[in-house]
Amino acid sequence: MPSIVIVGAQWGDEGKGKIVDALAARADVVVRFQGGDNAGHTVYSGDKKYVFHILPSGILRSGVLCVIGGGVVLNLKNLGEELQTIRIPETDWRRRLRISGEVHLILPCHIAMDQASETLRGKGKIGTTLRGIGPAYADRAARTGVRLADTLDESWFRTQLRSCLDAKRGCLPEAQARDVCDADRVADEILALAKPYAGLIADAGQLLADARRKRKNILFEGAQGTMLDVGAGTYPYVTSSHTVAGGVCVGAGVGPHDIDRIIGVVKAYTTRVGEGPFPSELHDATGEMLRKIGGEYGATTGRPRRCGWLDLVQLRRAVRLNSLDEIVVTKLDVLDALDRIGICTAYRVGGRRVTEWPVNPVDVQQAEPEWEYLPGWQCATDGVTTFAKLPKAARRYIRTIEKRLEVPVTMISAGKDRAQLIIRKPAFGKK
Ligand code: IMP
Repeated sequence: MPSIVIVGAQWGDEGKGKIVDALAARADVVVRFQGGDNAGHTVYSGDKKYVFHILPSGILRSGVLCVIGGGVVLNLKNLGEELQTIRIPETDWRRRLRISGEVHLILPCHIAMDQASETLRGKGKIGTTLRGIGPAYADRAARTGVRLADTLDESWFRTQLRSCLDAKRGCLPEAQARDVCDADRVADEILALAKPYAGLIADAGQLLADARRKRKNILFEGAQGTMLDVGAGTYPYVTSSHTVAGGVCVGAGVGPHDIDRIIGVVKAYTTRVGEGPFPSELHDATGEMLRKIGGEYGATTGRPRRCGWLDLVQLRRAVRLNSLDEIVVTKLDVLDALDRIGICTAYRVGGRRVTEWPVNPVDVQQAEPEWEYLPGWQCATDGVTTFAKLPKAARRYIRTIEKRLEVPVTMISAGKDRAQLIIRKPAFGKK
């Protein structure tokens, strides 16, 4: 039974939630391994819409064990609210949710610092989700953070938290620091919020090793996308975690040999939310149309997403960085009405033609796309259930992606509902 990784191959919002949810029908375990509640994974089931920020998308499938790995940063208050909104009986989620003791907690001071640092950056802001993600990861790397496991001993937790907050006081305006760095008050609040989850704290790595030994199907659910990786992304316009497939090992506590397949999710066009370079961005009516038809507004912040054509230079980089075995193309139906569809095949940088992602960040900023156009199909694809029934031009578009990236497209999503999925090769075999 395989362990499969799903990662976003672009700048996030590729539609991973729907794909994880579909694969979770055959999975035994679904694991989040990085990020926090900056993610927004949307799943449509019948007339119901679910948006997950922190819970693994497998939570909707009753037989699935959901694990929040140690590479995640956790806002306990928002976790509680999310568990309330999805209306799963408490006895059910208690049975099916486990949280690594290694997750770092997002504290009120992290949220305040996220806001303060964005304000300080002014025009050079990152455009973060203001959820405290960056400051929480910064504390983790600086060894000044607090972890969920720390809450298991009150006196230990109070000591750790105090030293964490002492270091923050000078970084915030005095009145705000008095509030969010009040160690006794924050400790009381976090200890109360953590209490309901004490019984769910686990050694995620050990749990996953046991599941693998029992030949369970394991799905690792990436959040954000490759180009937002803190190392390989468009730094500094990135998130603060490792979003690439390699992040699974450190974020879930498994070794590299414990991964069997890696699937990249590619939206049929490109979007990005927040600031930073985006070479294939469209600043015209077509970009506006993609945003409108694709409903391209952030699931977490509601911000309009920037839209553009598919970028093969960027995607080749994603294929390499993640060792992608296969690709899932999502939101194909958003292109249904178009008479032609663009693909960025190379960049022009200072008069040079460039086919690899530039090393110099200023070159990335200045990269001008070179376009190739394919014919559109101008008919509806949502509801189509087999590849053969897709219009010829849509098949050609998919085959072009496969050929240029040298990776097979094994699934195509056209339409919002979980049932609207063309499966060319099932990810998990029959159980
Ligand atoms: P942060 O993760 O809140 O620190 O934000 C850093 C950057 O990552 C910003 O450009 C965000 O818009 C972007 N980002 C964070 N989470 C997501 C996501 O789930 N989808 C798309 N972009 C995201």
